[in-house]
Parts: sequence; C-alpha cells; structure tokens
Amino acid sequence: MSKVLISKNIPAIANELLKKAGFTPETLNSDVSLSSLDPLQLQEVVGIISMLADPIDDQFLEKTPQLKVISNYAVGFNNLDLVALQKRNILVGNTPEVLTEATAELTVGLLLMSMRNLTLANRAVYDGSWQGFRPLDFLGPTLFRKKVGIMGFGRIGKKVGEILHFGFQNPISIINRGDEKNQQATRDINYPLHIFNEDEFLKDLDILILNSPLNESTHNWLNENRLQKLKTTATIINTGRGDLVDEEALVRFLKKHPDLRYGTDVMKVEPLPTTHEFTRLANVTLLPHIGSASIEAREAMAVICAKNIIMGINEGRVFKGPLK
Ligand code: GLV
Ligand code: GLV
Repeated sequence: MSKVLISKNIPAIANELLKKAGFTPETLNSDVSLSSLDPLQLQEVVGIISMLADPIDDQFLEKTPQLKVISNYAVGFNNLDLVALQKRNILVGNTPEVLTEATAELTVGLLLMSMRNLTLANRAVYDGSWQGFRPLDFLGPTLFRKKVGIMGFGRIGKKVGEILHFGFQNPISIINRGDEKNQQATRDINYPLHIFNEDEFLKDLDILILNSPLNESTHNWLNENRLQKLKTTATIINTGRGDLVDEEALVRFLKKHPDLRYGTDVMKVEPLPTTHEFTRLANVTLLPHIGSASIEAREAMAVICAKNIIMGINEGRVFKGPLK
C-alpha cells in the first residue's frame, strides 16, 4: 500500500518522513534503473523520487497507472516530460532554493580550479612531477577583478554573482533580456549589474559562467558562432547542463587556443567516458556533477522530495514544484 519508489539512495530523512506519513518507501538497488522496471513492479507505485538520469516520459508513464506524484531530486527537470505528466494529472515537484548556495560555491571553486590550474598542480604533488618551487610553473590568471558574464541569471546565477562581486571584486554582466526582466534581476540583487546585448556581452568578458536551465532555447547555446566572439583567453565555467554547450565545437576551440579554459561539472554524457577528448586537454577541468553535493543541500533536498510526495498525495499540491 502507498508504495513510493526512490530511484537512488538519498539521505535517510526522506524514508523517515515518508514512513511517518504512512507510506512504504522502497529504494532501488544501485544496479537497477527506474526505466528498466517492468509494469508489474510499478503497478502499485503512487509516488516516485526520481533522479536527473531517469527519463520520465510517455513510455515510462504507461507502466505506472497509480502514479500521483513525481518528485525530482534536483532543481532541474529536463529529464521530465511535463506534457506527458500533465496529461495524466501527475503532480511534479523539484528542489529549488536549498541547493542554490551549494551550487554557487561549487561554481566558484571550479572557477578557481580552472584559472589557477589546481587539478594539474594537485596531481603533480602525487605523481612525483613537482619540481619544488619554480616561478614559472602552474601559472594561471588571477580571478580578482576579471569581468564575469553570467548566462542563466536565476537563483544560482545571482548567488554566483554575489560571491564574485563581494569576494573578488568582479564586475558582473548579463545579457539584455528586455526592460522588465532586467529590472527584476536588478531588484533581486544587492550588487551592480551590467547589462549588454549578446554580442557585447560575449566580446567583453574574461569569464563566462553557464548557470541556465536546459530547454529548447538554451540547447547547444554555446555554439561555434558564440565561441568565436569570446576572447581566446576566456575561462568558461558550466554548472548548468552539458547540453548548454556544443561540446565538439568547444573541443576544437580548446585545442586551437591553449589559453582558453573550460571547467565543467556537467557533460552531455554522464558519466563522461574516460576516452572523451575533454580528459586529454590540459585547459579542461572536470568534476562529476557535484554542484549540489554539500551535506546540507542533499539533506534538505531529501526533505523537500519527501514533502512533495506526502503533500502531493494527501493534499493534491506539491510543497515545491516547477509548475504553477
Ligand atoms: C542538478 O543538476 C540539479 O538540477 O539539481
Ligand atoms: C536554480 O535554482 C536557478 O533558478 O538558478
């Protein structure tokens, strides 16, 4: 009765809250994927806590006749077919806000890793190639005062801007999105914002940070044409989605311009095949999609996910969700 599937191990608080509310949570074994389950195993499921890697589409929903709530363990929801879910009156929850700081601080960490060659430097300590103090080794540009452009100025983008403005005196710019949205963005923050048309934005910046959600208008946004406009010494950081970037075009640019840098926490294919060109380029820094992986954020995400299921089923509305 009241079976809730959790597609991966998450902090135990979710199970506790669900049980207390009378549900029967069941976590899939780590070698089993949600989409591989057969209709029999899904027949009685009323709620699912899903991960970004779980496609929830028509094909999957054909197998879940009792499903009432999808509670995505992420702020993003590009794995969900919202039309297919709405068609079946299935409620949708996600985990905004609680991972904003975690993802923003990780973004700044990755930016420092990339600019100051921290991965290469760290590796040298372990692999024996460290030659002792040498003034010309591991040099990278300073982060202080560099011009930062943020593409995707939502909660996370705004928080990244705040850390960089107050911490590193970086001027922060965004792309002009029309008067109303620009004014709203300016009202939301407590630091100065420079607003440029896209061309000026791309040409002017030293650091481009991608924090946008993935949708039709942002898919492969950083393409050949836009890459061409960047300084060849720019640092690009991606903590949004791999699909915001035309990775093949970017690899060509990174090979041609050794001073161009790419630091990313997200890739088109995750886990990234270790044979991918990114792994062979010294100007690329890679992390395994850990933006929200702070203890506090992952715990809070578990609470929200459980509450979305409980409220969704008991009250017909979610606690936090991407849809109105
Ligand atoms: C992570 O990528 C998320 O969307 O929460
Ligand atoms: C996510 O929290 C965003 O809107 O940036």
